[in-house]
Amino acid sequence: MSSSFTNPILLGILWATIILTFATTLSTADQSPLESEAKALLESGWWSGYHNISRRCKWPGISCNAAGSITEMTLSGAVYNYSEVQDRFGELKFSSFPNLVVLDLSGCQLGGNIPPEIADLSALKYLGLSSCDLSGELPLSLGNLTNLEFLDISSNSIHGSIPPQLGKLEKLVSLNLSWTGLTGQIPTSLGTLTNLRHLQLSGNQFDEGPIPQNFRNLTALVTLKLDSCGITGPIPSGFGQLTNLEILGLYGNKINGSIPPEIGLLSNLLELHLHGNMLVGSIPITLYQLTNLKYFLLGINHLEGSIPQDIENLKNLRILSLTDNNFTGHIPLVLCHLTKLEFIDIGLNQFSGSIPSCFGNLSNLNYLSLRSNLLEGSIPQEIGNLEKLTLVDLSQNSLNGSIPSQIGNLSRLTYLDLSFNQLSGHVPVLSATKLHIVDAENGCYKISPDSFQGNKGLSPCITSSKTSTANNSKIPLYIKIFLPIAIFSTFSILGCLFFSWFKVKNSRVGIHPTKNGDICSIWNYDGKIAYEDIIAATEDFDFRYCIGVGGYGSVYRAQLPCGKVVALKKLHRSEAENPAFDKSFRNEIKFLTEIRHRNIVKLHGFCLHRRSMFLIYEYMEKGSLFYNLRDEVEAVEMDWTKRIEIIKGMAHALCYLHHDCSPPIVHRDISSNNVLLNSSFEAFVADFGTARMLDLDSSNQTLLVGTLGYIAPGDVS
Ligand SMILES: *[C@@H]1O[C@H](CO)[C@@H](O)[C@H](O)[C@H]1NC(C)=O
Ligand SMILES: *[C@@H]1O[C@H](CO)[C@@H](O)[C@H](O)[C@H]1NC(C)=O
Ligand SMILES: *[C@@H]1O[C@H](CO)[C@@H](O)[C@H](O)[C@H]1NC(C)=O
Ligand SMILES: *[C@@H]1O[C@H](CO)[C@@H](O)[C@H](O)[C@H]1NC(C)=O
Ligand SMILES: *[C@@H]1O[C@H](CO)[C@@H](O)[C@H](O)[C@H]1NC(C)=O
Ligand SMILES: *[C@@H]1O[C@H](CO)[C@@H](O)[C@H](O)[C@H]1NC(C)=O
Ligand SMILES: *[C@@H]1O[C@H](CO)[C@@H](O)[C@H](O)[C@H]1NC(C)=O
Ligand SMILES: *[C@@H]1O[C@H](CO)[C@@H](O)[C@H](O)[C@H]1NC(C)=O
Ligand SMILES: *[C@@H]1O[C@H](CO)[C@@H](O)[C@H](O)[C@H]1NC(C)=O
Ligand SMILES: *[C@@H]1O[C@H](CO)[C@@H](O)[C@H](O)[C@H]1NC(C)=O
Ligand SMILES: *[C@@H]1O[C@H](CO)[C@@H](O)[C@H](O)[C@H]1NC(C)=O
Repeated sequence: MSSSFTNPILLGILWATIILTFATTLSTADQSPLESEAKALLESGWWSGYHNISRRCKWPGISCNAAGSITEMTLSGAVYNYSEVQDRFGELKFSSFPNLVVLDLSGCQLGGNIPPEIADLSALKYLGLSSCDLSGELPLSLGNLTNLEFLDISSNSIHGSIPPQLGKLEKLVSLNLSWTGLTGQIPTSLGTLTNLRHLQLSGNQFDEGPIPQNFRNLTALVTLKLDSCGITGPIPSGFGQLTNLEILGLYGNKINGSIPPEIGLLSNLLELHLHGNMLVGSIPITLYQLTNLKYFLLGINHLEGSIPQDIENLKNLRILSLTDNNFTGHIPLVLCHLTKLEFIDIGLNQFSGSIPSCFGNLSNLNYLSLRSNLLEGSIPQEIGNLEKLTLVDLSQNSLNGSIPSQIGNLSRLTYLDLSFNQLSGHVPVLSATKLHIVDAENGCYKISPDSFQGNKGLSPCITSSKTSTANNSKIPLYIKIFLPIAIFSTFSILGCLFFSWFKVKNSRVGIHPTKNGDICSIWNYDGKIAYEDIIAATEDFDFRYCIGVGGYGSVYRAQLPCGKVVALKKLHRSEAENPAFDKSFRNEIKFLTEIRHRNIVKLHGFCLHRRSMFLIYEYMEKGSLFYNLRDEVEAVEMDWTKRIEIIKGMAHALCYLHHDCSPPIVHRDISSNNVLLNSSFEAFVADFGTARMLDLDSSNQTLLVGTLGYIAPGDVS
């Protein structure tokens, strides 16, 4: 080849190189990484209220490194106006943020899918997307975020299964996919994430398989929560290796087989939740070596055997539930040495013998259920020393003798059930206002009608020689207290009668109880409400936190550890057994988990447990519209401008229900009682107990509510 021919080619290549290099330098000079970050930030629209881009490192939720590059976006706090990200989640050009380490959008109501491009955040270590109203499937690209240490997608309405690609996130320390409606199987690849310290997969439907065998390799685990997620099969062998475990949650599954004795090797265990499974056999004696244990929950299984003396070792025990099994034998006296006990439920077994009088030493006890056993003898009067008791259920035994008068001194008692025993004599004077009073007349209290029935020897109503006959003004006094409370009751429950008129159609998002009728789903508020927090915040529904008594339940005000205040509507147990009330409760959950609107009260969670049925709402400081109109002071404060805003708010809510929901929803019980006001008099429509979907085409049986964003956790099929 001649040089005259090669030279132009070389020249061309040279030119091209020069031009390319120049162009590259030009474009980088044109747009430095910092500038492209700034541009992407502006284009995202996430901070539409902020305009001075040169101050971006000071915008709420943003942190930068020394070079001024963004390392953190935390939009989950109160500082930020959530509504700004919302639909614009995917509009952030993720690839422009090579130094972003923390992205926390929890609670941001993003809606829609997780954009697969999120994997472009190559430096990301922390991704918080809990309670973001996300739907769709988890993108496989999540497996490319190989620097990730913390991943939380809990409390969303994801469907599909866990991508096995998550097994590539070797640095993961914390993985939370609870209450997301995932299905399929737990991928075995998760068993290779040996740095995991916290793994939470509760509230899903992994009913296609067991716990992966290789989870035994996750020896760094401190928390393992696989509650209510449909898993079958036995507890895998080798779990005794997980010696760092503090919390083992496996409740509400279909776990069978027996409890492996090696669980007794988990010497750091604080909480063992195995209730609501199909476990058989007896409790391995090794479990009584777990001296740090605080929660020991084995109820609702098919366990048998007796409680050995060794239980004495569990000195730190606070919660003991063996309910609904086949346990036999006597209640051991050594139980009385466990003075930290707050909760004992050993009901629905075949325990025999008598109630130890030393129970009087359990001074922290607030819940005592021994119902439906074969207990005999008398009720020890020492029980009257347990000042913290709020619930005592000794029903359905063979107890005889009289009811100790000391029970009358239990000022916190809200539930007392002694029915179906052989008790005789007089019913003692009770701190009656603390109980669920149905009626009071002529100084004769009737208490939760069934509390004393089935005891042939008892007088039919509770007469009081001291309190009520000596001073009859006592009764009008608490009627005076109760009546306004009942009126004030933010959730008046009308129209349960309508209920028999219609049957809620099966819908994809219906609430189905598990085998035992227990479901608990407590989410939102940063996903951080736990059942235990609710119980702690209300001291197990102590009367002091009750702010109203409605038709079939009580309303409580609870301040959570994070400072948020919520309202709890709790069904009384006797009413929980009434199918109409139960249905109304479920109806409310069904609708409020699906719909979301500025003027419709927000449901933050619910618990449908046989013993404890309650709903969690956002708290409305001003109570019902009815109350505000009725109260002279409030009515004056509520001027015409406010009234117009209230009407507009209600109209927006109804318009949304009728026109934006598909199929339309009719509330059927709009009244001033069912409109609640927050501290700035904004109106919120509440009480969907009798609401129904409008059947536009009666031949259409599917009634999907797909456009509405929410699907009940753990119930996506
Ligand atoms: C933007 O912020 C910079 C730095 O704080 C300041 O110097 C500048 O005046 C601001 N620009 C506007 C338009 O406010
Ligand atoms: C939040 O943002 C929305 C939409 O950008 C706006 O309408 C609303 O007024 C903002 N709220 C506050 C409290 O700034
Ligand atoms: C993950 O990254 C690899 C290599 O960078 C790429 O080939 C692959 O397509 C990515 N996977 C997904 C699901 O984005
Ligand atoms: C992990 O567990 C599996 C099965 O349980 C076992 O075969 C394997 O050797 C374990 N791997 C490691 C690294 O321990
Ligand atoms: C446990 O359940 C699995 C799956 O349902 C079943 O295959 C297995 O036989 C059961 N094992 C026992 C011990 O009952
Ligand atoms: C208790 O045992 C009896 C007979 O052995 C059985 O019929 C019953 O189902 C068992 N109950 C529970 C809760 O396992
Ligand atoms: C109960 O407490 C009393 C006094 O505090 C003590 O004498 C008694 O031994 C205790 N009984 C049991 C069974 O612990
Ligand atoms: C209670 O029943 C026991 C046997 O179960 C009996 O010995 C005792 O006398 C009875 N006490 C009373 C007061 O009836
Ligand atoms: C109830 O408490 C009062 C005051 O604490 C006490 O005087 C009384 O003896 C107690 N009654 C019973 C039956 O224990
Ligand atoms: C009843 O109680 C009220 C205050 O609660 C008191 O003023 C009145 O004197 C009492 N009556 C009797 C008969 O003790
Ligand atoms: C998810 O689980 C992790 C690890 O246990 C925990 O730190 C986080 O708070 C959980 N998320 C929510 C919303 O509770």
